This record gives sequence, C-alpha cells and structure tokens, in this order.
Amino acid sequence: MAPGSGQRQDDALWEWSVFWRSDQLQSCMPAIEPGYSDPLVSTWRDFFGALPVGARILDLGSGNGSVATQAVVVSREASKRFSIHGVDLAEIDPSRYVTSAADLLQEITFHSRTPMENLPFADNYFDAVASQYALEYSQIEKSLTEAMRVVRAGGSFRFLLHADDGVLKSRCQLQRQQAETILSSSLFARVSDVLKNVVAAERTRMPETQKTAEESITALKTAFDELENKFASDDNRDLVDNLFAAVRQLPALRKSYELKTLLGMVDDTGKLLLAQAKRLQAMERAALDDAATTELVERLRDMGATDVTLERATAGEGGNCVGYWLYGEKATG
Ligand SMILES: C[S@@+](CC[C@H](N)C(=O)[O-])C[C@H]1O[C@@H](n2cnc3c(N)ncnc32)[C@H](O)[C@@H]1O
Repeated sequence: MAPGSGQRQDDALWEWSVFWRSDQLQSCMPAIEPGYSDPLVSTWRDFFGALPVGARILDLGSGNGSVATQAVVVSREASKRFSIHGVDLAEIDPSRYVTSAADLLQEITFHSRTPMENLPFADNYFDAVASQYALEYSQIEKSLTEAMRVVRAGGSFRFLLHADDGVLKSRCQLQRQQAETILSSSLFARVSDVLKNVVAAERTRMPETQKTAEESITALKTAFDELENKFASDDNRDLVDNLFAAVRQLPALRKSYELKTLLGMVDDTGKLLLAQAKRLQAMERAALDDAATTELVERLRDMGATDVTLERATAGEGGNCVGYWLYGEKATG
C-alpha cells in the first residue's frame, strides 16, 4: 500500500501507522553499532524469564512487537506458554508486514488503534505489563493508572523511557532538522520537473523540449548541492543519504514505470519524510528528565506500586545513556 493511502494524515498517529506498515520490527531500539541493543534485549528476557508458566503479558505501545517478540522467545525457550498482548494507538498489523519475525508474531494478540489510556482488559488481568519507548508518548498519568489497574496484585511492570539527555534524543534532533530542511527545499518539485521534462523530451525529440529537460536536470543538481552544503558538517548522515539515494534512483525508473506512477512515488517519498519528521519531533517532546521520572516514581507509589526502581539504561561500549528503566510491582496488600 502506498504511504499515506487508506488513512488521513490528520488521523491519530498517522506518522506511526505509516511506519508500522513496513518490514520493521522496531523503531527506536538503537542500532548505533552492532550489538548495541543487546543489554536492552537481555533485560527484557530476564524480566519475562522471571514470570510463571502461563503468565499473561501486556506490551503498551507495542508497534510491530519488538518487546512482545522477546516474550515469545522466552516463552518458547522455557516452555512457559505465555499469553501475550500488544496495544498501539496507531494502525498496526505486524504479522502482515514483518516477514523476519512472522513465526514469533503469530503468538501475539495485537490490538490496533487502542489507546493505552483506555485499555480493553479487565482489572487484574495481567501478570506483567511492559513498554518500550512508548508510555512517555501517551497521557502518562492516565496510562499509568490503566497499567496499574490491569496488572494483578503481585504482578510486575517494566518500562523503558526516553531520556532527555540520552544519545537517542540528540540523534533525533539532528535528523528532524535535516528532514525539515529537505521538506522546505525545492527538492521534490525539482525531481518532479525532471521526470516530466525528460519523459516529454524522449517522447517528442524536439530541441526545445530537450533544452527544457536539460535545464530541469541542472536545477535538480543545484537543489542537491544547496542541501549538501547545509548538511556538510553534520556528523550523522543516515537520513540524508537514504533519502538522497531514494530520490536519485527515481529518474532511472522511467523505463519501467508510467510518468503518473513515478510522480506518485515522488509524492510518497515526501509523505514518508514528513511522517519521519513528525515521529522524530514526537520523540523529542516525549523524552523525560530526572525530575519528571522521579515524579513518576512517586505517582506509581501513590497508585499502590512497591519496590519501584528508577535506573539509567545504558548501551554500547561507551555505556551511552539510552533512557530510563522504571520497574516495580503492584502491592499485594
Ligand atoms: C517509539 S514507538 C515504540 C514502539 C515499540 N515499543 C518499539 O520499541 O519498537 C512508540 C509507539 O507508541 C505508540 N503510541 C503513542 N501514543 C500511544 C497511546 N496513547 N496509546 C497507545 N500507543 C501509543 C505509537 O503509535 C508507537 O507505535
């Protein structure tokens, strides 16, 4: 399905629905270097491994199931027969899109377009509630109240939250600025001009149309050069390089596709970039600092949680901060 189609851009979390309609299991799990996210994965596996046979587990803001699939792995390895649910406010259908984890995803019940502030589960239903980089995107007071309602007394919770001073936020900031710079440039208009004018020149073979095509190619090169200058000193070019590569290959596709289809691809590429900018901005806004997370600890205690612990989450050889772990249990008394 084309990006943006089937859903309005002003729909709730359109930017996430677009993202999850792809073969990607996770969004923010850092992949800065090989093995970077291993400490996070092993923490999740330890958390699920401590649960009893037959435990019911809920993943809040599951996306395509990066955390819920870890629960499936543990369930299989230790013959735990977990019952695993994931909720997300965005439109999700992981088993349709994520081929790399198709087998694991079969064992998870996903609840698409379901807000974590209003969960469709009975009180005390779950043995454990998990969330990775998602709770902080929601109305956090309401979501915590719901999480504590649906987890049973003695049940456990573990949340991974974005940190305001973490390595992920600074990467997001730079990429969001790059995306906005490209979106406000003439790049997409210039690519569309090249496609229209080159196709016309090849069809008519007239000197004037040939000249117009050459002028539009020059204008596109200028647009690329201007952007390259703006990004010259950026230390992370992942977003820029991927986007430029996608745009640069479009003219060569004119042998295989109709002009209308190619112009649709330009439009879709712009929409994907817009969705990416929105997601990056949401992440920047969602990130929490020490004061906000300490307040969450207090709120959880007020709600009847015990052994509430707040720790920095680290990853990579340099022990970079990738968020906060917040975990504990619901009191039995
Ligand atoms: C950064 S992604 C994390 C997804 C997944 N946990 C992972 O680690 O890959 C944040 C997710 O939270 C979801 N989300 C944001 N607000 C939500 C809400 N109020 N209720 C449910 N899901 C929400 C978004 O749709 C998105 O899928």
